[in-house]
Amino acid sequence: MEYNTVNMENKDILSHLQWYLDSGVDETTGDETLDWFALSSSPAPKPALAVKTAPVISADQIAQEAEKLAADCNSLSDLNEVIKNFNGCRLKKTATHTVFADGNPESDIIIIGEAPGVDEDRQGIPFVGEGGHLLDKMFKAINLNRESDFYITNILPWRPPGNRAPTDEEITICLPFIKRHIELFSPKLIILLGGISAKSLLQTDTGITRLRGKWHDYDLESGKVPVLPLFHPAYLLKQPKAKGDTWADLLSIKARLETLSPNNEEQAT
Ligand code: URA
Repeated sequence: MEYNTVNMENKDILSHLQWYLDSGVDETTGDETLDWFALSSSPAPKPALAVKTAPVISADQIAQEAEKLAADCNSLSDLNEVIKNFNGCRLKKTATHTVFADGNPESDIIIIGEAPGVDEDRQGIPFVGEGGHLLDKMFKAINLNRESDFYITNILPWRPPGNRAPTDEEITICLPFIKRHIELFSPKLIILLGGISAKSLLQTDTGITRLRGKWHDYDLESGKVPVLPLFHPAYLLKQPKAKGDTWADLLSIKARLETLSPNNEEQAT
């Protein structure tokens, strides 16, 4: 079907968009948005005689830029602004919101997921979909509430289109931001949700099935902080049998927190 949007009024265009939404078409699935209306009504472009190519900038070079920008941030709100204004990651082009963090920024625990999904992208808040509800329930079971006891963010602040897995380049580019995020938050405990989060921050190729449940160290400028990788809640929704392992991991977190409480002299190693 061909549409000529030039002669269409705004209300007609809006009604077309609403029709798409009502039919369940609520996202673009490519990395770049395309104006199909314009493409179908314009003649094919003439071949260019001389093609000028833009210099290719590698993901590592963009990551170095991100690292400089992140290093200049002295607060979480500075970092939030810098990420919102950063255009070096193509995921931003297709995302509706930059999803920074939620929970208590004064708490001791940072939980780090992978990337926003459709609900998080719409609302601009991490873990607000089905997986997020399960996550809240899991932590409530050990008396930890999002509003008061932990802070939550993701490796990537933008949703990969169609919920595809993030590419290595996208992770490389965004890693300096999450690393600075952790420094500025200065946690006593870090929880990593799922394989991408664990592999990216522990710099390992080991899968989550082997990493989960075992305590690791994360190097902060001020010293080492204990880290525990867990199965991602989205995985638990698909594989409820894995909830038993996650319950054991939650109890391990509870026990570790007891060693960190002010009434207990022992410090985590
Ligand atoms: N999955 C994630 O890893 N993060 C979110 O914020 C939502 C779903």
